[in-house]
Amino acid sequence: MEFAFASHFDKRKKADALVIPFWKGNVHPEPAADQTLQNPLLNVALKTGDFKGKEGEILYLYLDGQPEKRVILVGLGPQQKLTVETLRKCYGGVTKSCLGKRLKELNVVLPQSAHLSDELIAEGVCEGVLLPNYIFDRLKHQNPEEAEDGSLLQKITFIGLDKEVLEIAEEIFAVCDGVYYARDLINGNADEVTPQYLVQCARGLEKEYAKIKTTVFDKKHIEKEKMGLLLAVNRGSSLDPAFIIMEYRGNPKSKDHTVMVGKGITYDTGGLNLKPTGGMETMKCDMSGAAACFGALLAVCHLGLKVNFTIVVPSTENSIDANSFKPGDVYTSHAGKTVEMMNSDAEGRLILADALSYAVQKLNPTRLIDIATLTGAIEISLGSEASGLMSNDDKLAEALMQAGEKTYERLWRMPLYEEYKDKLKSDIADIKSWNGRSASSCVAATFLRYFVDDSIPWAHLDIAGTAYVTEAKKYLPKYATGVGVRLIVELLKGLSK
Ligand code: BES
Ligand code: ZN
Ligand code: ZN
Repeated sequence: MEFAFASHFDKRKKADALVIPFWKGNVHPEPAADQTLQNPLLNVALKTGDFKGKEGEILYLYLDGQPEKRVILVGLGPQQKLTVETLRKCYGGVTKSCLGKRLKELNVVLPQSAHLSDELIAEGVCEGVLLPNYIFDRLKHQNPEEAEDGSLLQKITFIGLDKEVLEIAEEIFAVCDGVYYARDLINGNADEVTPQYLVQCARGLEKEYAKIKTTVFDKKHIEKEKMGLLLAVNRGSSLDPAFIIMEYRGNPKSKDHTVMVGKGITYDTGGLNLKPTGGMETMKCDMSGAAACFGALLAVCHLGLKVNFTIVVPSTENSIDANSFKPGDVYTSHAGKTVEMMNSDAEGRLILADALSYAVQKLNPTRLIDIATLTGAIEISLGSEASGLMSNDDKLAEALMQAGEKTYERLWRMPLYEEYKDKLKSDIADIKSWNGRSASSCVAATFLRYFVDDSIPWAHLDIAGTAYVTEAKKYLPKYATGVGVRLIVELLKGLSK
């Protein structure tokens, strides 16, 4: 994406469309646009009431004598109600309306408002324009004409506000690039995006960014590390597991160290507790936690954040096979605790447990976060409006909640009551992996808690309801959302200050 800036309305150059915002009641927020706005055709649209400036309203006009082929009016709703999220939604609607119409270059008028700082306005507009500017069509045959029509926006020229908007735009684009990276991994075929493919991605990123050090454990090394739960899940798969560690040292003098563990199940069939039809079709998304880790790391590299950040990705398929691990059997984890396997579909917590205990023992985290499409129940509880948050530390939970509000990748904190531990008592092993549907998101998090050290602040993010959506949402495209990338980058930005 290319960004440019025009200090004044009259100085703008040719483009495919001019985007002009309006408050509800058709008050236009950019006085410099007056000349264009006095165009009689535009006045017709306003006076007939065909366009009212309602939040998210969009109208295309075709006016003579403008440097742009079209004018897009976008309604922002009442000025006093303006939020960054309103801007994301409204400008996101503009991008969505452009995709598939051969529009590549936009002149975008930035609104001014006493209710929101210029910086926040620039952020909201940029995120709105950029987040939906994504199409996953690698696997679709298109005739050349369609391919041309379906292209993405390529250049945005901002009009109004300060030139600093360009810096903000570049920064937001850097983060969105991480979001697109995560989406591509999730949307890709599970038969392509395998544990070995994730290893290749890690190697690719390592090559590109000198600040990253990558370590990969192959199956033999995983056996040597005694990661018995990751190996158990891998038994049913014809592909080897992988364990990936990528360390970014942006502040070598500091001991502060955020470690993020991402669930990397490249496909979840459920194993012997095979998922039914209707439950399996979206399960290529079960490595969304891993994808969020990669995307966040990429964004952190782009931004050159002064933080120490390590991602850990345990990865395998959860397949069904004569060799699959058997519910009822007991396996020994990396931490040494034995686990009675209750349901082979509760595989995420198993691979996370080994990764968390490895992180605690070997990586010296000052805070530990795991991110995973862990439980179907979290979607029942929160839908796709928020991800679940469970934590042993109020300060970390609060920092994450705030990052969630800022990015609108919202979190909702759920309890880790001591009583949940009772549900994981086993007669034949140290703990069991699952105990039915009751409070299953919280019990899953409680299982993970057995593998972290309560002296280290730890948070668990359950993104099973937010990572992959079967309907396009506001400014998010259908399927992979890339959730977690913006959230974690926001948290890390806060830590680097
Ligand atoms: N990968 C699933 C969770 C999931 C569900 C992710 C829906 C995305 C969308 C996880 O491994 C799983 O199968 N969880 C089960 C656990 C239970 C049946 C043992 C669940 O929560 O339904
Ligand atoms: Zn599962
Ligand atoms: Zn799963």
